Amino acid sequence: MFSLDQFASDARAAAAAPEPLNAVISVMAETLADPDAVRANMPEMVENEVLLFEDDTVSIWHERFLHTEIPPPHDHQTHAVLGAYHGRERNGLFRRVGGQAIKGGELVLGAGQFHVFGPDDIHSVQGLDGTPSLGLHIYLGPLTRIERSLFDWGTGAPVPLTEDAFTGMIRAA
Ligand SMILES: [Fe+2]
Repeated sequence: MFSLDQFASDARAAAAAPEPLNAVISVMAETLADPDAVRANMPEMVENEVLLFEDDTVSIWHERFLHTEIPPPHDHQTHAVLGAYHGRERNGLFRRVGGQAIKGGELVLGAGQFHVFGPDDIHSVQGLDGTPSLGLHIYLGPLTRIERSLFDWGTGAPVPLTEDAFTGMIRAA
Protein backbone atom coordinates (compact mmCIF):
# COMPACT_ATOMS: atom_id res chain seq x y z
CA MET A 1 0.00 0.00 0.00
CA PHE A 2 1.25 3.46 -0.84
CA SER A 3 2.32 5.75 2.00
CA LEU A 4 3.44 9.31 1.28
CA ASP A 5 5.77 9.26 4.27
CA GLN A 6 7.34 6.03 3.04
CA PHE A 7 7.72 7.45 -0.47
CA ALA A 8 9.51 10.51 0.88
CA SER A 9 11.69 8.34 3.09
CA ASP A 10 12.57 6.04 0.18
CA ALA A 11 13.33 9.00 -2.09
CA ARG A 12 15.63 10.52 0.53
CA ALA A 13 17.51 7.25 0.94
CA ALA A 14 17.79 6.85 -2.84
CA ALA A 15 19.18 10.36 -3.26
CA ALA A 16 21.89 9.51 -0.74
CA ALA A 17 22.78 6.21 -2.46
CA PRO A 18 26.04 5.69 -4.45
CA GLU A 19 24.17 6.07 -7.76
CA PRO A 20 21.41 8.47 -6.78
CA LEU A 21 19.77 8.95 -10.18
CA ASN A 22 19.37 5.22 -10.77
CA ALA A 23 18.12 4.72 -7.22
CA VAL A 24 15.60 7.55 -7.46
CA ILE A 25 14.34 6.23 -10.80
CA SER A 26 13.77 2.85 -9.14
CA VAL A 27 11.77 4.43 -6.33
CA MET A 28 9.61 6.32 -8.84
CA ALA A 29 9.08 3.23 -11.02
CA GLU A 30 8.07 1.08 -8.05
CA THR A 31 5.75 3.78 -6.72
CA LEU A 32 4.01 4.36 -10.05
CA ALA A 33 3.59 0.65 -10.75
CA ASP A 34 0.22 1.03 -8.99
CA PRO A 35 -0.94 4.61 -9.59
CA ASP A 36 -4.43 3.88 -8.24
CA ALA A 37 -2.92 2.95 -4.87
CA VAL A 38 -1.07 6.28 -4.82
CA ARG A 39 -4.29 8.13 -5.57
CA ALA A 40 -6.28 6.18 -2.96
CA ASN A 41 -3.78 6.79 -0.17
CA MET A 42 -2.69 10.35 -0.93
CA PRO A 43 -3.55 12.93 1.74
CA GLU A 44 -5.50 15.92 0.48
CA MET A 45 -3.23 18.59 -0.98
CA VAL A 46 -4.57 22.13 -0.75
CA GLU A 47 -1.86 23.86 -2.77
CA ASN A 48 -0.98 23.04 -6.37
CA GLU A 49 2.69 22.68 -5.45
CA VAL A 50 3.57 21.09 -2.12
CA LEU A 51 7.16 20.69 -0.96
CA LEU A 52 7.27 17.41 0.96
CA PHE A 53 10.95 17.43 1.87
CA GLU A 54 14.16 19.20 0.90
CA ASP A 55 17.78 19.08 1.95
CA ASP A 56 21.10 19.56 0.12
CA THR A 57 20.70 16.34 -1.86
CA VAL A 58 17.02 16.05 -2.72
CA SER A 59 13.79 17.99 -3.16
CA ILE A 60 10.50 16.05 -3.15
CA TRP A 61 7.20 17.56 -4.31
CA HIS A 62 3.54 16.78 -4.85
CA GLU A 63 2.28 18.54 -7.98
CA ARG A 64 -1.13 19.41 -9.36
CA PHE A 65 -1.09 20.71 -12.93
CA LEU A 66 -4.20 22.60 -13.93
CA HIS A 67 -5.92 22.26 -17.28
CA THR A 68 -6.75 25.97 -17.22
CA GLU A 69 -3.27 27.47 -17.08
CA ILE A 70 0.30 26.71 -18.13
CA PRO A 71 3.33 27.65 -16.02
CA PRO A 72 6.16 29.27 -18.00
CA PRO A 73 8.94 27.24 -19.62
CA HIS A 74 11.70 26.63 -17.06
CA ASP A 75 14.76 24.54 -16.37
CA HIS A 76 15.68 22.72 -13.13
CA GLN A 77 19.53 22.85 -13.10
CA THR A 78 19.51 19.39 -11.53
CA HIS A 79 18.20 15.99 -12.56
CA ALA A 80 14.43 15.78 -12.24
CA VAL A 81 12.42 12.54 -12.07
CA LEU A 82 8.86 13.64 -12.80
CA GLY A 83 5.99 11.16 -12.47
CA ALA A 84 2.22 11.26 -12.94
CA TYR A 85 -0.20 9.14 -10.90
CA HIS A 86 -3.59 10.58 -11.89
CA GLY A 87 -4.86 12.10 -15.10
CA ARG A 88 -2.64 13.08 -17.99
CA GLU A 89 -0.17 15.94 -18.31
CA ARG A 90 1.30 17.48 -21.43
CA ASN A 91 4.91 18.63 -21.21
CA GLY A 92 5.88 21.25 -23.75
CA LEU A 93 9.55 20.61 -24.59
CA PHE A 94 11.99 23.34 -25.57
CA ARG A 95 15.47 23.31 -27.05
CA ARG A 96 18.18 25.65 -25.84
CA VAL A 97 19.48 27.45 -28.93
CA GLY A 98 21.88 30.33 -28.42
CA GLY A 99 20.75 30.60 -24.82
CA GLN A 100 17.09 30.90 -25.81
CA ALA A 101 14.27 28.38 -25.48
CA ILE A 102 12.87 27.26 -28.83
CA LYS A 103 9.70 25.14 -28.80
CA GLY A 104 10.37 21.53 -29.71
CA GLY A 105 8.03 18.62 -29.24
CA GLU A 106 5.59 17.46 -26.60
CA LEU A 107 5.62 14.65 -24.09
CA VAL A 108 2.34 13.38 -22.63
CA LEU A 109 2.59 11.47 -19.36
CA GLY A 110 -0.36 9.36 -18.19
CA ALA A 111 -0.99 7.85 -14.79
CA GLY A 112 1.88 5.50 -13.96
CA GLN A 113 4.39 7.13 -16.31
CA PHE A 114 7.43 9.25 -15.54
CA HIS A 115 10.26 11.00 -17.33
CA VAL A 116 13.80 12.01 -16.37
CA PHE A 117 14.77 15.56 -17.30
CA GLY A 118 18.42 16.62 -17.37
CA PRO A 119 19.66 19.79 -15.66
CA ASP A 120 19.46 21.92 -18.83
CA ASP A 121 16.18 20.52 -20.15
CA ILE A 122 13.34 23.03 -20.43
CA HIS A 123 9.62 22.29 -20.16
CA SER A 124 6.17 23.63 -19.35
CA VAL A 125 3.32 21.45 -18.08
CA GLN A 126 -0.47 21.42 -18.40
CA GLY A 127 -3.17 19.02 -17.21
CA LEU A 128 -5.13 17.43 -20.06
CA ASP A 129 -8.67 16.12 -20.55
CA GLY A 130 -10.33 19.08 -18.83
CA THR A 131 -9.13 18.11 -15.37
CA PRO A 132 -6.00 18.65 -13.25
CA SER A 133 -3.30 16.00 -13.32
CA LEU A 134 -1.48 14.86 -10.18
CA GLY A 135 2.15 13.88 -9.85
CA LEU A 136 5.18 13.23 -7.67
CA HIS A 137 8.51 14.89 -8.45
CA ILE A 138 11.99 14.11 -7.15
CA TYR A 139 14.86 16.51 -7.87
CA LEU A 140 18.47 15.63 -7.09
CA GLY A 141 19.28 18.90 -5.35
CA PRO A 142 17.82 21.69 -3.22
CA LEU A 143 15.40 22.97 -5.87
CA THR A 144 14.23 26.01 -3.91
CA ARG A 145 17.84 27.22 -3.52
CA ILE A 146 19.16 26.53 -7.03
CA GLU A 147 19.48 29.44 -9.45
CA ARG A 148 17.22 28.59 -12.38
CA SER A 149 15.73 30.27 -15.43
CA LEU A 150 12.29 30.92 -16.85
CA PHE A 151 12.00 31.56 -20.58
CA ASP A 152 9.84 34.22 -22.20
CA TRP A 153 6.87 32.70 -24.03
CA GLY A 154 7.40 35.00 -27.02
CA THR A 155 11.14 35.52 -27.42
CA GLY A 156 12.47 32.47 -25.56
CA ALA A 157 14.87 34.74 -23.66
CA PRO A 158 15.93 33.56 -20.19
CA VAL A 159 14.69 35.36 -17.06
CA PRO A 160 15.93 34.59 -13.53
CA LEU A 161 13.37 32.36 -11.80
CA THR A 162 11.65 34.11 -8.92
CA GLU A 163 8.23 33.42 -7.49
CA ASP A 164 6.90 36.74 -8.82
CA ALA A 165 8.30 36.16 -12.29
CA PHE A 166 6.92 32.63 -12.36
CA THR A 167 3.45 33.76 -11.35
CA GLY A 168 3.50 36.68 -13.76
CA MET A 169 4.37 34.48 -16.73
CA ILE A 170 1.66 31.85 -16.17
CA ARG A 171 -0.41 31.62 -19.33
CA ALA A 172 -4.13 30.87 -19.54
CA ALA A 173 -4.78 27.64 -21.42
FE1 LIG B 1 9.50 21.62 -14.03
